[in-house]
Amino acid sequence: MSFPFTTQEVSEAGSVVTIPSLKLFARGSSEYIPSKAPVFYNPRMALNRDLAVLVLRAYRKMIDWDLSVCEPLTGCGIRGIRFASQVEGVSKIVLNDLNPIASNLATLNVEKNGLTHKIIIENDDANSLLISHSHPNERFDMIDLDPFGSPSPFIDSALLALKGGGLIALTATDTAPLCGVNPLSCIRKYFGRPLRTEYCHELGIRILLNSLVFSASRHELGVNVLFSHSTNHYLRVYAQVRSGAGKANMAVERIGYILHCFDCFHRQCSFGLANFKEARCEVCGGNMNVAGPLWLGQIATREFCESMLSEVESVQLSNTKAAKKLLNTIIMEAEAAPTYYVIDRICDRLNVPPPSTELVIRSLSNYGYIALPTHFHPRGVKTNAPMHIIEKSIKELVLIPSNTLLPK
Ligand SMILES: C[S@@+](CC[C@H](N)C(=O)[O-])C[C@H]1O[C@@H](n2cnc3c(N)ncnc32)[C@H](O)[C@@H]1O
Ligand SMILES: [Zn+2]
Repeated sequence: MSFPFTTQEVSEAGSVVTIPSLKLFARGSSEYIPSKAPVFYNPRMALNRDLAVLVLRAYRKMIDWDLSVCEPLTGCGIRGIRFASQVEGVSKIVLNDLNPIASNLATLNVEKNGLTHKIIIENDDANSLLISHSHPNERFDMIDLDPFGSPSPFIDSALLALKGGGLIALTATDTAPLCGVNPLSCIRKYFGRPLRTEYCHELGIRILLNSLVFSASRHELGVNVLFSHSTNHYLRVYAQVRSGAGKANMAVERIGYILHCFDCFHRQCSFGLANFKEARCEVCGGNMNVAGPLWLGQIATREFCESMLSEVESVQLSNTKAAKKLLNTIIMEAEAAPTYYVIDRICDRLNVPPPSTELVIRSLSNYGYIALPTHFHPRGVKTNAPMHIIEKSIKELVLIPSNTLLPK
């Protein structure tokens, strides 16, 4: 097979694939622009694919039958190739791309990795491919939507092509809308209002999940969120979708709003759909700004993440250390309430030098509150402590030179 561009081989976690030469699409000496290449391959998404492999291995253990998988926006095929070679019990994979050059390159890569017995390549529009798999006998156990930008145009058809109990994975790289830089675009794509707070990436994940829950509930499907993360320039969620109006109702009951006061940083969750035009901050009396509707349930399930972690040492990953670190933090924060505080933002307001994240966490724990790190931000703290206690802790840490409150 020949291609109208120079190619090179890359190896990712044991799979070797042919891609367009990286140096042809380089900006400067180090940065590569995958969207400019004739077929998409982004080395920066290798950790995303590592985690997807861990999710699929944990999911396979959970359901214990052979899996059929679909990746309707596949690029050069690397993700599906890794699923086929790194997840035992994956018996059939359909990879698809609208770009005929991508689907040809994916075909070459599947042959090269000796996976033609498991992987079928299609060259179709993602929605028409998914709809053509909506018959109950044709549905998949897992569908991975990894598009340019927003997954929202493909969510409905993916839900129709998913078996009851199936797993859906969504990547969103359109963080500008989801994190509040472009709120109208977020409302248009996800029907949720974002807010430019210090925890805007968490809000983005919750808005993305809300749009999945509402799409699913139209088909009487409930959503059980297993794992989510925010890494580099993208947000990623994984959820098991279960049939039944009761399951759909349970998911819809976890929808609501987050109210945020920009004056004192107080925030509040409100379940259900309502109008907050007149909401006032219960701490300082300022205006509350509203984000949502969004998902207020857990964005990761501890047991599922522990199961992913237990797979880390049994499989080759592109970045084992990063995957482990991320999973350990997400396990810690899995059951914490929504939102987190960024220490530096509070210190700016108090006009004091910022103490370490670890010291703030220890101090809040000593006061009897839950206080945890978060993978969303290295200076973030998830806590149920009220704002005046957080401020008191920070002031004590920075104003009392040798702090006697903190046990070693
Ligand atoms: C971000 S890339 C996929 C990357 C891939 N999932 C990976 O892990 O390397 C998105 C792909 O979607 C394809 N695409 C865009 N619109 C599509 C559509 N409507 N139907 C099918 N493929 C489409 C593009 O050609 C591109 O290859
Ligand atoms: Zn306030």
